[in-house]
Amino acid sequence: MNLPHDLTLAEKASLTSGSSTWQTTPVDGRVRAITLTDGPHGIRRQDPAAGDALGLNASLPATCFPPAVTLGSSWDPELARRVGAALAREASALGADVVLGPGVNIKRSPLCGRNFEYLSEDPLVSGVMGAAVVAGIQSLGIGACVKHFAVNNQETDRMRVSADVDEQTLREIYLPAFERIVREAAPYAVMTAYNRINGVYASENHWLLTEVLRGEWGFDGLVMSDWGAVNDRVAALAAGLDLEMPPTGTDGQIVEAVTAGRLEESAVTAAAERVIRLVRRVEDARRSAGRDEETPRFDGQGEEPRRFDDWDEDAHHELCRQAARAGAVLLKNDGGLLPLDPAGSQRIAVIGEFARTPRYQGHGSSHVVPTRLDTPWDALRAAAGPGTELSFAPGFTLDGTPDAALVADAVSAAASADTALVFLGLPEAAESEGFDRTTIDLPAGQIALLRAVSAACPRVAVVLANGGVVGVARWQDAASAILEGWLPGQAAGTALADLLFGFHSPCGRLTETIPVKLADVPSHLNFPGRDGHVVYGEGRYVGYRHYDTLDVPVAYPFGHGLSYTRFSYDDLAVVENGGNTWTVEATVTNTGGRSGHEVVQLYVAFEEQAPSRPRHELRGFTKVGLEPGESRRVSFTLTGRDVARWSPSRRGWRIDPGSFVVEVGASSRDIRLRAEVSTAGDGLTDELGPMSTLGEWLAHPVGAELLGARMRRAAGLLDASGGHSALINLALGIPLIKFSTFGIGLTSDVVTELVSAVRNAPAEGAAPDA
Ligand code: BGC
Repeated sequence: MNLPHDLTLAEKASLTSGSSTWQTTPVDGRVRAITLTDGPHGIRRQDPAAGDALGLNASLPATCFPPAVTLGSSWDPELARRVGAALAREASALGADVVLGPGVNIKRSPLCGRNFEYLSEDPLVSGVMGAAVVAGIQSLGIGACVKHFAVNNQETDRMRVSADVDEQTLREIYLPAFERIVREAAPYAVMTAYNRINGVYASENHWLLTEVLRGEWGFDGLVMSDWGAVNDRVAALAAGLDLEMPPTGTDGQIVEAVTAGRLEESAVTAAAERVIRLVRRVEDARRSAGRDEETPRFDGQGEEPRRFDDWDEDAHHELCRQAARAGAVLLKNDGGLLPLDPAGSQRIAVIGEFARTPRYQGHGSSHVVPTRLDTPWDALRAAAGPGTELSFAPGFTLDGTPDAALVADAVSAAASADTALVFLGLPEAAESEGFDRTTIDLPAGQIALLRAVSAACPRVAVVLANGGVVGVARWQDAASAILEGWLPGQAAGTALADLLFGFHSPCGRLTETIPVKLADVPSHLNFPGRDGHVVYGEGRYVGYRHYDTLDVPVAYPFGHGLSYTRFSYDDLAVVENGGNTWTVEATVTNTGGRSGHEVVQLYVAFEEQAPSRPRHELRGFTKVGLEPGESRRVSFTLTGRDVARWSPSRRGWRIDPGSFVVEVGASSRDIRLRAEVSTAGDGLTDELGPMSTLGEWLAHPVGAELLGARMRRAAGLLDASGGHSALINLALGIPLIKFSTFGIGLTSDVVTELVSAVRNAPAEGAAPDA
């Protein structure tokens, strides 16, 4: 791509930072400014001049879609794509060009204050759902900006902390969602995280931004900083950061560094080119949408921006309702308490302030001013038939102030009802961008209320509103049914009423495990770190990868979610296609009496006595809608990458020869079908050297042969040890060179000769495709 040829160094430098909180810098008559806006679950369009990154100042009304926690729980990429397209339409109508989202960081701990903005504890769910949102946004020519790259898994000390994490864990857990999105959905932009990774700020991390993101994954878009994430302009630019947001007035430092020979001018040119490419991309889209005008002005003082086109508020509200419905997870439903019959003759006590004042989104930079809001209390009354009597009691205060009278009213409402619907959850102040939680408990007053209500009314269903996981183990015996509604967005009430009255079956599934207690969480001893460091000591064992490997009891497993119907799984078939790819098929049947959706999950399992990798990992999923009695054959493709592991020594993907198990099921703990599959591996072997152990030499196809030929005497010694397996085990762990002092003929010259022979042996196989 060519820059306008007459740009000076200073003009190029000016392009590498914004001109205000939400806009890039124009260059007189040659490069137009474009407008960026939060994101991720609705458009937060602020006055460019008086904006802020915390959600303090006003923004224009826009549809508040369900945040990522809810959208992710739908396991429905097509729905995510439609939400993305709706976001783009609203961004366009509000005069913005790039949406700052989706957020795809891994939920390492349920305490992360921003978990409501993230999709899953699993990289596949995060990647597939994130890619779908990006595809939807960009289908209308609006740019998506995937964030926060990378390893931004906590809010505590987020602007300074170093996430200390080994490369295998980065490659297998924290990077794959970004990798998938870059490779499959080609986002226009990526936003760097605030934190450091192994000591280096993400915005100044050459390895991350240039070697991995651009070099390995082929990213051709723009890298921008999170708001205020740049600490050293020159280092950031040299590392591959194109755009500092918002501006800090430090463009002069770039010019100075080039003039002093500390920074290549080509780095400034490359960054400026990427800014201009982004501007041109959105300009082209604007032109093809017939709205070739300047970005509208919005002074925040009541003057609305001129809208280029409008969106259908009713249609977007309806999409919101669908998404909220699709993401709610029915955790338990003893005795089939739900759904309630809308035509039944019954008394329902609706209890909990959240039924009247719903929590439907999280706090911070993603906070959206909704176009309207459905409350559960209104929606339940509207949906109930004439035979249903509804009463309401708030039961608790939102700020947690104890109020015995509220509890007493709630208990008396419950006592005279057939069923109590109890709306519990986390108050707004409990979770937000900017800080982490310290507990996963519901407020004590709410638990006490639930106990009192359940003593007065035997039929209790709890409806939860929370962005981060809440523990259920301490109170779930007091409820026959629990519907986890997460944060449902502005159609909260109608969506929940649809499910509670059975107009639709719940079909959300957990994208994160609900632990029995906080101390069971694998990162518990290492979260949120101290003294500027957080050690990712649990490595790849995040979420179900930990619980299932160690068989730790959980309250509800990853992938879990009930329906008002049931599904059976049959006829698993695994066909090897060659080249380490397989086709996996299974038949799913709706065996219950209602229509519903099942999320069929494919895991690849490695059953090892001494675990060297997670016991199983999600490698595919598909959501199928089935009428009663209907069956569907579902199909997945497994690739070499799906069975590979990152090899720290090779710094690449490796497929080990051996067998693995294909598991198909309804959650990580509800595997219905299994088949053992074998692979010859990728033919790659670890390089041998003098310090490789005898065991490593013997496990190496060429090394074993060469060694066998040279080492008859040692082999004889090992044979002579007969049943003394302890001696053999002892010998297997000794580096080859150490045998040179044992007088068994394996002198250092022989070892040198063996090493050179093994290294000159014919080339090995190819690494698995990414
Ligand atoms: C957040 C980003 C957000 C930006 C702009 C930052 O504080 O971390 O997610 O896009 O502000 O509001």
